[in-house]
Amino acid sequence: MLANKTLSTLIRNVCIRRNFCLSQKILRGNIGVKCGVSAQQSKPTHTNKERFLQTSAKSLKSERLGSMPQIKTEISNVQVLLDKTELVIEWMDGHESLFQASWLRFHCFCPSCYSSADGLYKIDIERFKKNLTISSTSWNQSEQVLKVHFDNDVPSNHVALLPYDWLRENCYCDVCLKKKLSDRDVITRNSQTPKKMPVVDYDEIKDNPGQFLFDFMHHTFEVGYCKILNFPKEDELFMEFAESLGPVESNPFGYYNGTFFDDVKNTGAVDNAGHTNVDLPFHQDYRYADTCGQTIMFNCVRFDDCVTGGESLMVDLFQVAEILRDESPEDFKVLTKVPVIYENVNSNKRHFQIQKTHIEVDYNGKVTSCLWSGDLRPRLQVRQSDVTRYYKAHKKFSEIMKREELHIRFRHVTGSLVAMNNRRMAHKRTQFESNGGVRHFQQLGLHTAFMRNNYMLLAKKLGRVVSPPMTGNGSFF
Ligand SMILES: [Fe+2]
Ligand SMILES: [Zn+2]
Ligand SMILES: [Zn+2]
Repeated sequence: MLANKTLSTLIRNVCIRRNFCLSQKILRGNIGVKCGVSAQQSKPTHTNKERFLQTSAKSLKSERLGSMPQIKTEISNVQVLLDKTELVIEWMDGHESLFQASWLRFHCFCPSCYSSADGLYKIDIERFKKNLTISSTSWNQSEQVLKVHFDNDVPSNHVALLPYDWLRENCYCDVCLKKKLSDRDVITRNSQTPKKMPVVDYDEIKDNPGQFLFDFMHHTFEVGYCKILNFPKEDELFMEFAESLGPVESNPFGYYNGTFFDDVKNTGAVDNAGHTNVDLPFHQDYRYADTCGQTIMFNCVRFDDCVTGGESLMVDLFQVAEILRDESPEDFKVLTKVPVIYENVNSNKRHFQIQKTHIEVDYNGKVTSCLWSGDLRPRLQVRQSDVTRYYKAHKKFSEIMKREELHIRFRHVTGSLVAMNNRRMAHKRTQFESNGGVRHFQQLGLHTAFMRNNYMLLAKKLGRVVSPPMTGNGSFF
């Protein structure tokens, strides 16, 4: 239900709540106007099916691309290669794109093959012959669409339509692929030391809520974490703020579909080390529950000065993984191949288990996800030949993680909120003594894909050009 709310509504809700809390200072009307401004700036593209069916080649281009940043481009020449399985487009700016016949055919944007209204894949791929060849091409600068005829096409009179700027945007030559990978790779780009904690001030939300939310999400994606100062004390605001970023997830400690967050107090609860005062090693939360808590937020409700210890540390596991790859490539490889089991099984209360590798890499060899639950003993159940080499690699990874120069060390303060990417960062807490004081947090987890969706939509509204960032969910794109 929450996911269906528009971002501007959510921003407005956050504003209104904030406005309520600061009613002496802020005029409700002013906030409404501010929110309205960002809504007016957005230009939603409605895909009308009837209109689409009458689509000319030219309008097809703008329909497909919507408000994506467009590369101004013109074709200078198209050459079909001798065996007719590929063609080369020479663009006016000198760039050359090589496309395979099957790629062109199965990305056709004609109304018979593609429906932008419902996204249905309308091509019966199994009806095609194995080797598709190009019979002819034509293009027209005013329509900005490349037309391609194929031998043995289905149906036989079919003409493939491919908008220029879509072709250029999706060129998969080595140069273009490399650029796309590097644009999205916020993690490697920002996995460097020394690190500073990015900070935003909640008071900024009353003047420019869109910008505030953008900055907060931007830092959380790029750097991996972000702190908010002056976060309000009202309990419900933590939940409302989180919901403005994405759906809040239940956590495995019994808060399913109901009460929302985990109060982390020094309660001495025996089944959650986070509720005790002991030193917690580097770990990611809820990793045995797989998709749970991809982004986690800690709201520091109270942290008395008299409490000693209880400092927080974070380490970027993507950075740890890259150092491991540099220093010990064989160990790196082992941690991408040999899986471990993380589980949280507690009599009749919980039975969560996953078996995954500590490091996931994609098609390009890029690290796309890291898993480390140092608070739980990983269970190893693999082929005999992998056991010794696994523990060697585990030891090396763990040693790198403990290097102080990689740590971000801080002490939470009352009224601060820290969010972190729980697929990238591991965190730990030092032992503390309450000395009669209180150390009290609220914590919750968000689904990062929804937060990224809100981030991209908000960037568009604000006119900010950002590449969809990788998030540590195992997918590069
Ligand atoms: Fe934790
Ligand atoms: Zn078609
Ligand atoms: Zn290219």
